[in-house]
Amino acid sequence: MPTPLGKDLTALEYLSADQIRLILDTAEPFKEVSERQIKKVPALRGKTIVNLFFEASTRTRISFEFAEKRLSADTVNVASSGSSVSKGETLVDTARNLEAMHIDMVVIRHHASGSAEFLGKRIRSSVINAGDGKHEHPTQGLLDILTLRDKFGKIEGLKVAICGDLLHSRVGRSNIHGLLKLGAEVAVCGPASLLPRDVESLGVTVIPHIEDAIQWADALNILRLQLERMTAGYIPSLREYNRVFGLSTVRLDRAPKDLVIMHPGPMNRGVEIDSEVADGPHSVILPQVTNGVAVRMAVLYLLAGGAPDWAQAGGSE
Ligand code: CP
Repeated sequence: MPTPLGKDLTALEYLSADQIRLILDTAEPFKEVSERQIKKVPALRGKTIVNLFFEASTRTRISFEFAEKRLSADTVNVASSGSSVSKGETLVDTARNLEAMHIDMVVIRHHASGSAEFLGKRIRSSVINAGDGKHEHPTQGLLDILTLRDKFGKIEGLKVAICGDLLHSRVGRSNIHGLLKLGAEVAVCGPASLLPRDVESLGVTVIPHIEDAIQWADALNILRLQLERMTAGYIPSLREYNRVFGLSTVRLDRAPKDLVIMHPGPMNRGVEIDSEVADGPHSVILPQVTNGVAVRMAVLYLLAGGAPDWAQAGGSE
Protein backbone atom coordinates (compact mmCIF):
# COMPACT_ATOMS: atom_id res chain seq x y z
CA MET A 1 0.00 0.00 0.00
CA PRO A 2 1.49 3.42 -0.90
CA THR A 3 2.38 5.60 2.09
CA PRO A 4 2.29 9.42 2.15
CA LEU A 5 6.11 9.32 1.88
CA GLY A 6 6.37 6.58 -0.77
CA LYS A 7 8.25 3.33 -0.08
CA ASP A 8 11.62 4.74 1.06
CA LEU A 9 13.12 7.82 2.68
CA THR A 10 16.48 8.38 1.01
CA ALA A 11 16.80 12.17 0.65
CA LEU A 12 15.00 15.39 1.61
CA GLU A 13 15.68 16.49 -1.96
CA TYR A 14 12.94 14.06 -3.05
CA LEU A 15 10.29 15.16 -0.51
CA SER A 16 7.76 17.95 -0.99
CA ALA A 17 7.23 20.70 1.57
CA ASP A 18 3.93 19.02 2.53
CA GLN A 19 5.65 15.66 3.12
CA ILE A 20 8.28 17.34 5.31
CA ARG A 21 5.56 19.15 7.30
CA LEU A 22 3.68 15.85 7.69
CA ILE A 23 6.75 14.21 9.25
CA LEU A 24 7.33 17.18 11.58
CA ASP A 25 3.66 17.25 12.64
CA THR A 26 3.62 13.49 13.18
CA ALA A 27 6.76 13.80 15.33
CA GLU A 28 5.05 16.23 17.73
CA PRO A 29 2.88 13.70 19.63
CA PHE A 30 5.72 11.15 19.56
CA LYS A 31 7.81 13.56 21.69
CA GLU A 32 5.42 12.92 24.56
CA VAL A 33 5.77 9.13 24.29
CA SER A 34 9.46 9.43 25.25
CA GLU A 35 8.51 11.43 28.35
CA ARG A 36 6.13 8.73 29.68
CA GLN A 37 7.00 6.36 32.50
CA ILE A 38 6.36 3.49 30.08
CA LYS A 39 7.85 4.69 26.80
CA LYS A 40 5.94 2.48 24.42
CA VAL A 41 3.01 2.55 22.00
CA PRO A 42 1.89 -0.44 19.93
CA ALA A 43 1.98 1.38 16.57
CA LEU A 44 4.54 -0.97 14.92
CA ARG A 45 3.76 -4.16 16.81
CA GLY A 46 4.52 -7.13 14.54
CA LYS A 47 6.85 -5.15 12.24
CA THR A 48 10.48 -6.26 11.90
CA ILE A 49 13.20 -3.67 11.28
CA VAL A 50 16.88 -4.27 10.52
CA ASN A 51 19.42 -1.57 11.35
CA LEU A 52 22.37 -1.97 8.97
CA PHE A 53 25.18 0.31 10.16
CA PHE A 54 28.31 0.01 8.03
CA GLU A 55 29.80 3.22 9.49
CA ALA A 56 30.26 4.36 13.08
CA SER A 57 27.32 6.11 14.75
CA THR A 58 26.18 6.99 18.24
CA ARG A 59 23.17 9.34 17.93
CA THR A 60 21.56 7.98 14.76
CA ARG A 61 21.94 4.28 15.51
CA ILE A 62 20.79 4.51 19.11
CA SER A 63 17.90 6.88 18.42
CA PHE A 64 16.61 4.68 15.57
CA GLU A 65 16.75 1.73 17.92
CA PHE A 66 14.92 3.65 20.66
CA ALA A 67 12.36 4.86 18.13
CA GLU A 68 11.72 1.30 16.92
CA LYS A 69 11.43 -0.11 20.44
CA ARG A 70 9.13 2.72 21.57
CA LEU A 71 6.87 1.86 18.64
CA SER A 72 6.95 -1.85 19.69
CA ALA A 73 8.72 -3.07 16.54
CA ASP A 74 11.06 -6.08 16.61
CA THR A 75 14.59 -4.96 15.75
CA VAL A 76 17.87 -6.52 14.73
CA ASN A 77 21.19 -4.65 14.50
CA VAL A 78 23.79 -5.60 11.90
CA ALA A 79 27.28 -4.09 11.62
CA SER A 80 29.83 -4.89 8.93
CA SER A 81 32.24 -6.41 11.44
CA GLY A 82 30.73 -9.62 12.75
CA SER A 83 28.48 -10.07 9.69
CA SER A 84 29.29 -11.79 6.39
CA VAL A 85 29.94 -8.36 4.86
CA SER A 86 33.41 -8.77 6.38
CA LYS A 87 33.77 -11.88 4.16
CA GLY A 88 32.91 -9.89 1.06
CA GLU A 89 29.12 -10.37 0.82
CA THR A 90 27.55 -7.51 -1.12
CA LEU A 91 25.07 -5.01 0.25
CA VAL A 92 22.27 -6.31 -1.96
CA ASP A 93 22.94 -9.96 -1.08
CA THR A 94 22.97 -9.03 2.60
CA ALA A 95 19.63 -7.23 2.28
CA ARG A 96 18.05 -9.99 0.16
CA ASN A 97 19.03 -12.60 2.73
CA LEU A 98 17.47 -10.47 5.45
CA GLU A 99 14.33 -10.12 3.34
CA ALA A 100 14.15 -13.90 3.03
CA MET A 101 13.55 -13.80 6.80
CA HIS A 102 10.46 -11.57 6.22
CA ILE A 103 11.55 -8.15 7.38
CA ASP A 104 9.57 -4.94 6.82
CA MET A 105 12.14 -2.14 6.90
CA VAL A 106 15.87 -1.51 6.62
CA VAL A 107 17.64 1.47 8.17
CA ILE A 108 21.03 1.86 6.52
CA ARG A 109 24.17 3.91 7.12
CA HIS A 110 26.84 3.36 4.47
CA HIS A 111 30.01 5.10 3.30
CA ALA A 112 28.89 5.11 -0.36
CA SER A 113 26.81 8.06 -1.58
CA GLY A 114 23.61 6.72 -3.16
CA SER A 115 23.73 3.38 -1.34
CA ALA A 116 20.30 3.79 0.32
CA GLU A 117 18.59 4.59 -2.97
CA PHE A 118 20.48 1.75 -4.70
CA LEU A 119 19.21 -0.67 -2.06
CA GLY A 120 15.66 0.69 -2.08
CA LYS A 121 15.36 -0.05 -5.79
CA ARG A 122 16.43 -3.66 -5.27
CA ILE A 123 14.43 -4.86 -2.26
CA ARG A 124 10.74 -4.87 -1.39
CA SER A 125 11.19 -3.58 2.16
CA SER A 126 11.16 0.13 2.96
CA VAL A 127 14.64 1.65 3.16
CA ILE A 128 15.52 4.61 5.38
CA ASN A 129 18.79 6.43 4.78
CA ALA A 130 20.68 6.97 8.05
CA GLY A 131 23.53 8.72 6.20
CA ASP A 132 25.05 7.75 2.84
CA GLY A 133 28.58 8.97 2.19
CA LYS A 134 28.62 12.68 1.38
CA HIS A 135 25.07 12.65 -0.05
CA GLU A 136 22.26 13.05 2.53
CA HIS A 137 21.27 12.35 6.12
CA PRO A 138 17.54 13.06 5.85
CA THR A 139 16.44 12.26 9.41
CA GLN A 140 19.21 14.55 10.76
CA GLY A 141 17.93 17.32 8.47
CA LEU A 142 14.39 16.71 9.75
CA LEU A 143 15.38 16.76 13.41
CA ASP A 144 17.37 19.96 12.86
CA ILE A 145 14.35 21.59 11.22
CA LEU A 146 12.03 20.37 14.00
CA THR A 147 14.40 21.91 16.57
CA LEU A 148 14.37 25.23 14.70
CA ARG A 149 10.56 25.11 14.50
CA ASP A 150 10.42 24.48 18.25
CA LYS A 151 12.58 27.58 18.89
CA PHE A 152 11.12 30.00 16.33
CA GLY A 153 7.57 28.66 15.79
CA LYS A 154 8.08 28.59 12.01
CA ILE A 155 10.71 27.98 9.34
CA GLU A 156 9.50 30.36 6.64
CA GLY A 157 11.65 33.49 6.52
CA LEU A 158 14.22 32.15 8.99
CA LYS A 159 17.87 32.89 8.21
CA VAL A 160 20.02 29.81 8.82
CA ALA A 161 23.80 29.79 8.28
CA ILE A 162 25.41 26.37 7.91
CA CYS A 163 29.09 26.71 8.78
CA GLY A 164 32.09 24.46 8.37
CA ASP A 165 32.92 21.42 6.27
CA LEU A 166 30.11 21.51 3.71
CA LEU A 167 32.18 19.53 1.22
CA HIS A 168 31.96 16.26 3.14
CA SER A 169 28.66 16.89 4.91
CA ARG A 170 25.50 14.90 4.20
CA VAL A 171 23.91 16.81 7.10
CA GLY A 172 24.54 20.14 5.38
CA ARG A 173 22.97 18.90 2.13
CA SER A 174 19.82 17.57 3.84
CA ASN A 175 19.45 20.80 5.83
CA ILE A 176 19.78 22.90 2.68
CA HIS A 177 17.09 20.95 0.79
CA GLY A 178 14.67 20.76 3.72
CA LEU A 179 15.04 24.37 4.89
CA LEU A 180 14.71 25.84 1.39
CA LYS A 181 11.56 23.79 0.72
CA LEU A 182 9.98 25.22 3.87
CA GLY A 183 10.85 28.80 2.90
CA ALA A 184 13.97 29.53 4.99
CA GLU A 185 16.91 31.55 3.69
CA VAL A 186 20.07 29.48 3.84
CA ALA A 187 23.69 30.64 3.73
CA VAL A 188 26.84 28.55 3.90
CA CYS A 189 30.10 29.66 5.48
CA GLY A 190 33.50 27.99 5.47
CA PRO A 191 36.87 27.91 3.77
CA ALA A 192 36.57 27.74 -0.03
CA SER A 193 38.41 24.39 0.08
CA LEU A 194 35.55 22.92 2.16
CA LEU A 195 32.63 24.25 0.10
CA PRO A 196 31.31 22.18 -2.86
CA ARG A 197 32.17 23.98 -6.10
CA ASP A 198 28.49 24.13 -7.15
CA VAL A 199 27.04 24.92 -3.74
CA GLU A 200 25.24 28.11 -4.88
CA SER A 201 23.30 26.05 -7.44
CA LEU A 202 21.49 24.46 -4.46
CA GLY A 203 19.92 27.87 -3.76
CA VAL A 204 22.17 29.08 -0.94
CA THR A 205 24.30 32.21 -0.50
CA VAL A 206 27.99 31.93 0.35
CA ILE A 207 29.16 34.07 3.28
CA PRO A 208 32.96 33.74 3.38
CA HIS A 209 33.55 35.06 6.93
CA ILE A 210 31.96 33.63 10.07
CA GLU A 211 31.76 37.14 11.57
CA ASP A 212 29.40 38.12 8.72
CA ALA A 213 27.36 34.91 9.10
CA ILE A 214 26.90 35.77 12.79
CA GLN A 215 25.65 39.25 11.83
CA TRP A 216 23.20 37.84 9.24
CA ALA A 217 21.73 34.70 10.78
CA ASP A 218 18.96 33.79 13.22
CA ALA A 219 20.54 30.36 13.73
CA LEU A 220 23.92 28.79 13.08
CA ASN A 221 24.32 25.09 12.33
CA ILE A 222 27.99 24.31 12.93
CA LEU A 223 29.31 21.29 11.04
CA ARG A 224 32.08 18.98 12.09
CA LEU A 225 35.37 18.89 10.23
CA GLN A 226 35.14 15.34 8.81
CA LEU A 227 38.82 14.54 9.18
CA GLU A 228 38.22 10.86 8.39
CA ARG A 229 36.95 11.75 4.89
CA MET A 230 39.75 14.22 4.09
CA THR A 231 42.31 12.75 1.73
CA ALA A 232 44.14 16.02 1.07
CA GLY A 233 45.25 19.07 3.04
CA TYR A 234 42.01 21.07 3.00
CA ILE A 235 43.07 23.32 5.89
CA PRO A 236 46.50 24.43 7.11
CA SER A 237 45.92 23.11 10.65
CA LEU A 238 43.12 22.57 13.17
CA ARG A 239 44.46 25.49 15.21
CA GLU A 240 44.32 27.77 12.18
CA TYR A 241 40.78 26.58 11.37
CA ASN A 242 39.65 27.36 14.91
CA ARG A 243 41.25 30.79 14.75
CA VAL A 244 39.52 31.73 11.47
CA PHE A 245 36.23 29.78 11.55
CA GLY A 246 35.77 28.45 15.10
CA LEU A 247 32.63 29.58 16.94
CA SER A 248 33.74 31.19 20.19
CA THR A 249 31.91 33.27 22.81
CA VAL A 250 34.00 36.27 21.75
CA ARG A 251 32.59 35.99 18.22
CA LEU A 252 29.07 35.15 19.39
CA ASP A 253 28.95 38.11 21.79
CA ARG A 254 29.18 40.43 18.76
CA ALA A 255 25.90 39.05 17.31
CA PRO A 256 23.15 41.69 17.02
CA LYS A 257 20.63 39.24 18.56
CA ASP A 258 20.55 35.93 20.44
CA LEU A 259 21.41 33.22 17.93
CA VAL A 260 20.33 29.61 18.17
CA ILE A 261 23.40 27.36 17.99
CA MET A 262 23.15 23.86 16.51
CA HIS A 263 25.62 21.07 15.85
CA PRO A 264 24.67 17.59 14.57
CA GLY A 265 27.47 15.91 16.54
CA PRO A 266 29.91 14.44 17.12
CA MET A 267 31.68 17.71 17.97
CA ASN A 268 35.36 18.52 17.64
CA ARG A 269 35.43 20.77 20.71
CA GLY A 270 37.96 23.56 20.35
CA VAL A 271 38.02 23.17 16.55
CA GLU A 272 34.71 24.18 14.89
CA ILE A 273 33.02 25.09 18.18
CA ASP A 274 34.34 26.07 21.60
CA SER A 275 33.00 24.31 24.69
CA GLU A 276 31.62 27.57 26.18
CA VAL A 277 29.36 27.89 23.12
CA ALA A 278 28.45 24.20 22.83
CA ASP A 279 27.42 24.09 26.48
CA GLY A 280 26.16 27.68 26.62
CA PRO A 281 22.68 29.19 26.88
CA HIS A 282 22.08 29.48 23.13
CA SER A 283 22.96 25.87 22.34
CA VAL A 284 20.17 23.45 21.31
CA ILE A 285 22.58 20.60 20.63
CA LEU A 286 21.01 18.20 23.16
CA PRO A 287 17.40 19.14 22.24
CA GLN A 288 18.41 18.18 18.68
CA VAL A 289 19.28 14.71 19.96
CA THR A 290 15.99 14.46 21.88
CA ASN A 291 14.05 15.44 18.75
CA GLY A 292 15.92 12.76 16.80
CA VAL A 293 13.93 10.01 18.51
CA ALA A 294 10.55 11.65 17.77
CA VAL A 295 11.44 12.37 14.14
CA ARG A 296 12.61 8.80 13.59
CA MET A 297 9.45 7.45 15.23
CA ALA A 298 7.43 9.60 12.82
CA VAL A 299 9.36 8.42 9.75
CA LEU A 300 9.12 4.74 10.76
CA TYR A 301 5.43 5.09 11.56
CA LEU A 302 4.54 6.83 8.28
CA LEU A 303 6.61 4.46 6.13
CA ALA A 304 4.94 1.50 7.83
CA GLY A 305 1.60 2.84 6.59
CA GLY A 306 0.52 4.56 9.81
CA ALA A 307 -2.36 7.00 9.48
CA PRO A 308 -1.15 10.59 9.06
CA ASP A 309 -3.92 11.76 11.41
CA TRP A 310 -2.35 9.99 14.40
CA ALA A 311 -1.29 13.46 15.60
CA GLN A 312 -4.86 14.77 15.45
CA ALA A 313 -6.02 11.75 17.48
CA GLY A 314 -3.59 12.81 20.22
CA GLY A 315 -1.38 9.80 19.72
CA SER A 316 -3.55 7.62 21.92
CA GLU A 317 -3.56 3.87 21.55
N1 CP B 1 24.59 13.28 13.82
C1 CP B 1 25.00 12.02 13.61
O1 CP B 1 24.75 11.44 12.55
O2 CP B 1 25.68 11.47 14.65
P1 CP B 1 26.19 9.95 14.66
O3 CP B 1 27.26 9.82 13.62
O4 CP B 1 26.70 9.72 16.06
O5 CP B 1 25.01 9.08 14.34
